[in-house]
Amino acid sequence: MLLLIYFCLFTVEFKVHTLDTVVTAVYGQYVVLRCSFTVQHGSPSLERLVINWQRADTEDVVYSYYYGKEQLSHQSPQYSGRTSLFMEELKRGNASLKLDQVKSEDAGLYKCFVSGALGSGWGTMSLIFAAYYKEPDFYIQLQPSGTVFRFESQGYPRASVSWHNGENEDISTQSETYYQQSDNGLYSLHSILEITDASRSSNYTFKLTNDVLHQSVSRTFGLSVETETAEVCTRNRWSITFSLLLTEFIIILILVTVVYQKHLQLKIEQKQFCCVK
Ligand SMILES: *[C@@H]1O[C@H](CO)[C@@H](O)[C@H](O)[C@H]1NC(C)=O
Ligand SMILES: *[C@@H]1O[C@H](CO)[C@@H](O)[C@H](O)[C@H]1NC(C)=O
Repeated sequence: MLLLIYFCLFTVEFKVHTLDTVVTAVYGQYVVLRCSFTVQHGSPSLERLVINWQRADTEDVVYSYYYGKEQLSHQSPQYSGRTSLFMEELKRGNASLKLDQVKSEDAGLYKCFVSGALGSGWGTMSLIFAAYYKEPDFYIQLQPSGTVFRFESQGYPRASVSWHNGENEDISTQSETYYQQSDNGLYSLHSILEITDASRSSNYTFKLTNDVLHQSVSRTFGLSVETETAEVCTRNRWSITFSLLLTEFIIILILVTVVYQKHLQLKIEQKQFCCVK
C-alpha cells in the first residue's frame, strides 16, 4: 500500500505535445516543427530516448533518433540532408525538428513520437506550404486594337489579382489572369489588361495578394496619350527598358536603311562601271 502511494506520488504523467496545430512553411526557407515531451528534474537518459518524426498521411519517415544518436537509414529520400534536431535541447524535453529548404511536397500532416524512461506518446501538426510572389515582370505590347499590359510572377498558393484605373475604380473585369503550376509546385501567374480606349491618359494599378503570407504587391504605371503619338511612360525602370528597346529598334532601322542605301549605291556604281565598260 505504502509502496503504491509512493509510486503514484512520484510518477509523472508522460506527455508529448506539438505546440502548433498548423505551421506555415515558406518555400526555400527553414521551418521548425515544435514538439516537447515531459522530463523529470535532472537530465533524462538519452540512451533510452526514441524520437521519431513521421508523416501521418504517407507514413514516410522524416527523422529518427535512438541509441543516443540520429538514425537516418529509414529516412524518406525526400527529406535527405534537410533535417536536424536541436541536440542540446533534448535534455530539456525539446524534440523539435528543423526542416531546411522547404519545398511544396513538404505540405502535409506530421507526427512527433517520443518514447523514454517515463513512457511514450505522440502529437501531430499540419504543415502548410506557401511561397512569396517574386517582383512581377512587366510587359507592354502595342497592338492595332489597343495596348496590352502584362504582369508575370510566381508564388504559392494562387494569388488574388486586381487592376484599378486612375480613378481607383476596379477594372479587373477587363483583365484576365492565368495560372500554371510549375515543376517546383509554384504557380506561375500572368495577368493581362487590354486598354482599347487608348485615347485618354490614365494611371493604372496592378495588385497581387498572397493571403496565406499576407503579402501584397502593388505596381502603378501611367499611359500618356498625345494627339499624334501614343507614348507609354511609367515611373520606373520599365519605361526605360521600353524606350531603350524603341531607340534600339529605331537605330537598327536607320542602320538597315543606311546599309541598304550603301548597297544600292554600290550596285548602281557597279552598274555604271559596267555600263561604262
Ligand atoms: C526547441 O528549441 C528550438 C531551438 O532553440 C526552439 O526554436 C523551439 O521553440 C524549442 N521548442 C520547444 C518545444 O521548446
Ligand atoms: C498619374 O499620376 C501622376 C503622379 O501621381 C500624376 O502626376 C498624373 O497627373 C497622373 N495622370 C493621370 C492621367 O491621372
